[in-house]
Amino acid sequence: MKKQDYHFNYEVFDSIDELSEDDKWLLDEAREVTQHAYAPYSRFQVAAVAKLSNGEIISGTNQENASFPAGICAERVVLAIISSLYPKTPIESMAISYFNHNGESNHPISPCGICRQALQEFKEKMKAPVRLILGGMHGKVYIIEDASLLLPLSFTSHDMQ
Ligand code: THU
Repeated sequence: MKKQDYHFNYEVFDSIDELSEDDKWLLDEAREVTQHAYAPYSRFQVAAVAKLSNGEIISGTNQENASFPAGICAERVVLAIISSLYPKTPIESMAISYFNHNGESNHPISPCGICRQALQEFKEKMKAPVRLILGGMHGKVYIIEDASLLLPLSFTSHDMQ
């Protein structure tokens, strides 16, 4: 038996003001786009805004449903739009923000388990990592260079070959 370690690094910024101009713009856009979420049940409005390698900006928001499991997260909305409109174009960076009507919006949130799985497959398909910029309406910002780092030992299409 031997023990394996898993480490990953991410950057922590005290506020959006410490980011590069490009990253700041993308996170600001995500903050703005949270207004387009349809989240009458959770009242937790999430936005994901991606800058693609061809320069296009694609945004998505969480879309809920009275039949709760039918709802979809902002991240997977944006991945589906990109896969449909630009099926061969990698994401350079994706900013994720949120507005919580029930409480604070002052810390970064990171993608849920299902979205991590979807991000992992997007990387596999595009052969390029998805860089994440995570931040609330204010407060700290995290930058993660490769979203697949959030899902160690993930199940992938290779396991089915
Ligand atoms: N949600 C997202 O859209 N992205 C996340 O990263 C976390 C959660 C949505 C799902 C649901 O509509 C609401 O936020 C509360 O969970």
